[in-house]
Order: sequence, then structure tokens, then C-alpha cells
Amino acid sequence: MPEASGWLLRRSGASPAWLLLPGLVLMAVCSPHAGTVAAGTACVPRCYCSESEGKTVRCSHLRLTSVPAGIPNDTRRLYLDYNQLASVPADAFLGLPLLAELDLSHNHLSTLEPAAFRGLAPSLKFLDLSHNRLVTLDPEALAGLTARSNLTSNPWHCDCALQSTLPRLDLEPVSLTGIVCHTAEPNDTDVRGQALLLTKDLDLCVVLKKTTDVAMLVTMFAWFAMVISYLVYYVRANQEDARRHLEYLKSLPSRQGKSEESSTISTVV
Ligand SMILES: *[C@@H]1O[C@H](CO)[C@@H](O)[C@H](O)[C@H]1NC(C)=O
Ligand SMILES: *[C@@H]1O[C@H](CO)[C@@H](O)[C@H](O)[C@H]1NC(C)=O
Ligand SMILES: *[C@@H]1O[C@H](CO)[C@@H](O)[C@H](O)[C@H]1NC(C)=O
Repeated sequence: MPEASGWLLRRSGASPAWLLLPGLVLMAVCSPHAGTVAAGTACVPRCYCSESEGKTVRCSHLRLTSVPAGIPNDTRRLYLDYNQLASVPADAFLGLPLLAELDLSHNHLSTLEPAAFRGLAPSLKFLDLSHNRLVTLDPEALAGLTARSNLTSNPWHCDCALQSTLPRLDLEPVSLTGIVCHTAEPNDTDVRGQALLLTKDLDLCVVLKKTTDVAMLVTMFAWFAMVISYLVYYVRANQEDARRHLEYLKSLPSRQGKSEESSTISTVV
């Protein structure tokens, strides 16, 4: 080998650096990234696409502010982590019937449109929304999804809505400690800074229940008052009637009838 290269050097009269150049070019062409570009597959600009175990599209660390267009419809795994996505608009992933894994972690997501994940319900197995800016969760957005979700490391506002939505989702086990309350409603509960799913005996809906209880009580009291006042009115009216009846009986000429009637009336009254 040294003999051969020495011979080559002598023959072309070139320096070793010039010999290295073709090798570098060859390596660049053979690398998988350049390979897909060279193959001209319909993939997303700047993203890295591969075909191992179904199509995988990696668009991580690209400072994307919106979901890129032109994601191939046979994509099974889509990585959009470490970007600057601030929201997921409705139907953002429509037309990806095979998508099983969606990584949106480490973005700036603060809202998910109600129809953000429409069309993904049958295929999606894993959804990573960790390390975003999610404060509340629109139950509509994740409705119907059976995907296992990672919702950890978001500045959650823990309230009745969130506490009643979470149990309906298939959450990563890490959610037990990873869904931490940043703020809370009602404000006086000391759940801030705590893992919401570990506060078993805390019921953030209890205030809501209290107010509905009060409403029930007021309604019942109103009914009761109405019934009582009706009874009072009824008794008064009847007393009036009875008195009038008594007067009438007293004014009757028959002595016997009068005494009989009045005795029965007095026992009744
Ligand atoms: C993707 O789109 C092409 C062309 O419209 C279609 O033939 C193909 O069946 C689609 N693939 C899937 C998985 O939907
Ligand atoms: C969920 O997110 C947390 C924080 O990013 C990460 O440590 C964990 O590995 C994720 N879980 C899965 C299953 O990806
Ligand atoms: C909730 O409590 C914190 C600290 O006790 C306070 O800074 C904040 O203003 C309160 N928020 C509301 C809406 O009352």
C-alpha cells in the first residue's frame, strides 16, 4: 500500500492533500443525509428523512416557527422537537394516516387548537408535548386520541378543568411526577410547585361543587318559602271562611241546629 501511494504521488506529482479531496467528496455523497437528498425522495426541505422501520422525518433543531409543509403521507415518525413552534393550528397533521409517533417537545407551544391532531386518532401511538409552555389543556384537542402522551415540564395551571381532563388521557408514567402546577385555581390551595397527579386528596373542583351546592340550597329555600307562604295564605283564607261560616250558622233561626252546628264547628276549629 505505501509503495502504491508512493508510486501514485511520483506519477501525478501531486501532494497528499490533493489525493484526499476526492475521498472527502465520495464520503459526503455516501452519507445517509446527502444520500436521501441525492435520491430526490419527496421529503421536507432541511429535514433529515430515513426509511428505517417506516418513514422517519427528523426536523429537530431547525428553529421552525410553523409545522413544515410537504411532509410525506407515509411518514410514521415525525420529530419536530427543539424548534420554536408557538401553536399547533387545526388540521396541522391531516393527511398522515400512518403517523404513529409525534415529537413536539422543547418548543414554545402554549396552545393547541381543538382540532390540532385531527386525523391522527387511529394511528398515533406516542405524542410528546413535554418542555413546552402549555398552561391549560383543551380537552377537545386530545379528544379521541389513544396515544400515550408526555405532558411533563409545562407551566400548568392546575384547576378543575385540568384535574378532570388528565385522568381521561393515556399518560406516560413520568407524568406522575412531571406534571407540576405552576399556578392554581383556587389560588389559596398550596398545590403550586407540586405534582398534580400525586395530590390524591386534593379536589380542585370542590369549590365549583360548593357553589353549585349553594345554588341548590338557595333554590330549595326559595321553594320552601313559596310553599310556606302558600300554606299561610291558605290557612288565613280558610280561617276567614270558617269565621264567615260560623257567623252564618249563628244567624240561623233553628236553636237545636245552631247548637249542634256550632259545637261541631268549635271542635273542628
Ligand atoms: C400517499 O399519496 C399517494 C398519492 O396521492 C397515494 O397513492 C398513496 O396511497 C398515499 N399513501 C398513503 C399511505 O396514504
Ligand atoms: C417525557 O418527557 C420527559 C421530559 O422531556 C423525558 O425525560 C421523558 O423521557 C419523556 N418520556 C418519554 C417516554 O419519552
Ligand atoms: C395568587 O397568589 C399569589 C401568591 O400568593 C399572588 O402573587 C397572585 O397574585 C395570586 N393570584 C390571584 C389571581 O389572586
